[in-house]
Order: sequence, then C-alpha cells, then structure tokens
Amino acid sequence: MTTDHQMYTLNINGAERPVKDSWIGESLLYVLRERLDLPGSKGACEQGECGSCTVLLDGDAVCSCLVMAATAVDSTITTVEGLLADTVIGDTARVISDVQAAFVTEGAVQCGFCTPGLIVAVHHLLEHNPSPSDIEVKEAISGNICRCTGYGRIFAAVNAVIETRKKSK
Ligand code: FES
Ligand code: FES
Repeated sequence: MTTDHQMYTLNINGAERPVKDSWIGESLLYVLRERLDLPGSKGACEQGECGSCTVLLDGDAVCSCLVMAATAVDSTITTVEGLLADTVIGDTARVISDVQAAFVTEGAVQCGFCTPGLIVAVHHLLEHNPSPSDIEVKEAISGNICRCTGYGRIFAAVNAVIETRKKSK
C-alpha cells in the first residue's frame, strides 16, 4: 500500500473535512492552511517554539506544526476560525468572539501574526479557569511569542474579557 496521496477525514470546527492528495507526513498546520483553506493558524518557527499555530486538539491547546495531520483523524480540532461567537464589534457585520473583540478594542493587535494563536490560547485558558491570576495568564500564554506589543495590551485584553464575563453572570 502506498503512503502517498492519502485520503482521510478530519473533524474541524464541527465539520467533517476530507483531506485529499495529502502526503502522510504533512503537519496539521500545513493541511489546515494549504489543503483546507483555513489560514487563521499561522506558521512561523514550525518547531513548536512560537505558538502562532495554536489550535485545540480534543480540547487541549497544541502547536499544530508539531502534529501529523493524519494522526488526528479520531480527534476534534478547533481552529481560530471555529471560535466565532455572538459578539459584534463596531458597525461591521462580522461576528467574533469576546476574546477577539477585546484584542481589537484593547489594542492588543499590531502586526497580528501572533494573534490567532493567542486567541486560541486565551479561549483555552478561560474555558478551564474563568478567573485566572496574573501569573496564571502569563503562564497560559508563555508559549505564544509576540514580537510587537510588549504584552501589556494583551494582558489588558484578557482582563477585559474576564471582567466582562463576570459581570454578565
Ligand atoms: S509555527 Fe508552530 S510553534 Fe511556531
Ligand atoms: S502583534 Fe506582531 S507578533 Fe504579536
């Protein structure tokens, strides 16, 4: 049996997505971006060092550059594109999550390359720990490198989400 041009199916953002003409060794990051038209996850180091490619795999935040896509056939994958919610920002028609909205309104986005991975990491943190301490926030995003912001606006965005969620309960 050849291992070239594999076909398998991945469960991504709640949908079954067939992967065709894939080499068995392709990373999940590559398959998401190049084969499934999901370019939200970014590729920078491709060595598990920067976090720009972070996705949720069975609920865990992982670097998709380090996961062989074909090994994820029995997993549930959520990318930044799957984190949409019912928060509308400004007068645009786009619907984005409260974390995404806070990153925009708090000025936590500059070049934006790190942003999708950070958004996924923050969603993961707040899902498991709705009221994290400053240290816990720092620890949760310690694998996500931002070269632009100095992190102050990112922490402000996370805190804004925490406070808004507390008030809405
Ligand atoms: S591209 Fe995956 S960790 Fe940097
Ligand atoms: S905004 Fe540029 S790397 Fe974070």
